[in-house]
Amino acid sequence: MDLTTTYMGLKLKNPIIVGASPLTATYDSIKELEANGAAAVVLHSIFEEQINHELHEIDHFLFKGSEDYAEALGYFPEVTLSNLESQNYLEEIKKLKENLSIPVIASLNGVSKGGWQEYAKKLESAGVDAIELNITYIPTDIETDAREVEKLYLEAVETVRAYVSIPIAVKMNAYFSAPAQMSKKLIDAGANGLILFDRPVHVDIDLENLNATQTITPSSSNDMSESLRWCAILYKKLNASLCASTGVNTHEDILKAMMSGADAVQMVTALKKNGAVHIKEVLANLQTWMEEKEYISIEQMKGSISLHHTTNPAAYQRANYMRLLTDYRY
Ligand SMILES: Cc1cc2nc3c(=O)[nH]c(=O)nc-3n(C[C@H](O)[C@H](O)[C@H](O)COP(=O)(O)O)c2cc1C
Repeated sequence: MDLTTTYMGLKLKNPIIVGASPLTATYDSIKELEANGAAAVVLHSIFEEQINHELHEIDHFLFKGSEDYAEALGYFPEVTLSNLESQNYLEEIKKLKENLSIPVIASLNGVSKGGWQEYAKKLESAGVDAIELNITYIPTDIETDAREVEKLYLEAVETVRAYVSIPIAVKMNAYFSAPAQMSKKLIDAGANGLILFDRPVHVDIDLENLNATQTITPSSSNDMSESLRWCAILYKKLNASLCASTGVNTHEDILKAMMSGADAVQMVTALKKNGAVHIKEVLANLQTWMEEKEYISIEQMKGSISLHHTTNPAAYQRANYMRLLTDYRY
């Protein structure tokens, strides 16, 4: 059974990449993920705040309009802040590259124009196999035009591309007016892969303290819908790899992601819940399913139910399917 796949030119022994999270914030945890079969890891993010000290410049972007940059604040694991300094991040990478046999992908999280993009060069020198950019920006200013927002993303990719020659992936969000064209623009700007999609921190309201809050909520397999839709739509349309992310919890989820057109998947919630051993179990279930259905490789199933190969393209293309909605009974 051949579970190998290729992601941005990186040969992976199977499709499971562990996504940026506290799971990939310590050497021991990453070693355990590798021992249980992870094909690659995306390190916990290094944020522009940890690289740039030009905070006024960041503030300009983060607090333009009325709200702030949801992700940067929500993902900050305060307890490990001291370990996340930019120099330590580079040291971590060097140690991991000496001791791991799987690809290590760095996660660079920022939005403003600034020195954090040049830091990509240091990541490359430290030995990372690829860089994942998380540029999720919430444009709250009603004067900000959509093109201006797109430009922000594209310039960030172009700038990082000018600094490095290793593969760059963009962790996209699904909030663009034209996600298909935006995907193409990101690839034209220098990205080699897209992660579909980022999972922004959730907003809530604390009724006790009467204040807005942010939480990180666990995903479930039901959350895969948009990843499946856009992998299926973009399959073979771009000269780039696609990675399904958000809601990939089981071997069935991986099968669906591959069939929709993904080259790999990222997992976080399921591993936080079940431990690193979950990777081993999922891979065993994946093999069993493939044997039973007489598949011999992951490659063979890639894109087999993408937009152009499904007999039901409306499932991907129509947002509101009249018959489904009108016939639905509780
Ligand atoms: C506790 C936690 C911390 C995370 N930290 C980051 C981060 O630093 N950078 C990032 O790009 N994504 C971060 N993520 C998002 C994950 O990488 C992933 O995109 C998201 O959890 C969706 O995958 P899942 O459905 O398998 O959980 C974090 C997720 C969780 C649950």
